[in-house]
Amino acid sequence: MNDKQRVAEHAAQRIKDGMIVGLGTGSTANFFIEALARRMYDERLKLWAVASSVVSTIKAREVGLPLIGIEQVEYLDVYVDGADEVAPDLTLLKGRGADLVREKLLAKASKAFWVLIDRSKQVEYIGQKFPIPIEVMPFAWSLVNNSLMAIGGTPQLRANGDGLFVTSHGSLVVDTLFEPAIDGKTLNKLLNDIPGIVEHGVFCDLATAIFCGHDGRVDERWAFSGGTE
Ligand code: A5P
Repeated sequence: MNDKQRVAEHAAQRIKDGMIVGLGTGSTANFFIEALARRMYDERLKLWAVASSVVSTIKAREVGLPLIGIEQVEYLDVYVDGADEVAPDLTLLKGRGADLVREKLLAKASKAFWVLIDRSKQVEYIGQKFPIPIEVMPFAWSLVNNSLMAIGGTPQLRANGDGLFVTSHGSLVVDTLFEPAIDGKTLNKLLNDIPGIVEHGVFCDLATAIFCGHDGRVDERWAFSGGTE
């Protein structure tokens, strides 16, 4: 069992009967979806799942998790997903895939957001290893690029072969480097203020717990002291 599988199993063991569970996207989220379905069948749990992407929808269907649409939920008990980077203040970088809008919506609508990582995802600051993925309205990319350059960014439209990468919502993605780096919370506010940006990969004040798998065990770090859920 690798660290991603271990941390996914750990999170699945924390799910309680009757919960509405948000399913993230990515290889770690896939391990969680499998582990959750196993628990549901083994322990006859009654669960509902809300998927953050077409990929997680397909995965959930394959393993038999009962799905409800994002339009049908008022809240989720917990959203469980991986991340590309986690800073010491629990700010995250996400969005290597094409579904960060739904991922952020579900994280925000959940009573708890558990982030599943291995040590390779821990960074000193957001943007240390990856550019910031920024979803933009297709007709707005040039003006958004100007705004990003004005705050110190170097934007680059994400390519897909000879064409451009398009998200599941029809947006373009501008991967943006900030050198020198801008603190995650400040960057979150700056990006929220730029018209034409649909959503971006800085997830600020959303994670309630980070579960980190390493060396055969899982460390838990909670956003508030005494946290358990
Ligand atoms: C999806 O958009 C991403 O934010 C993923 O959650 C992130 O890339 C983690 O993926 P892995 O679990 O595959 O490392």
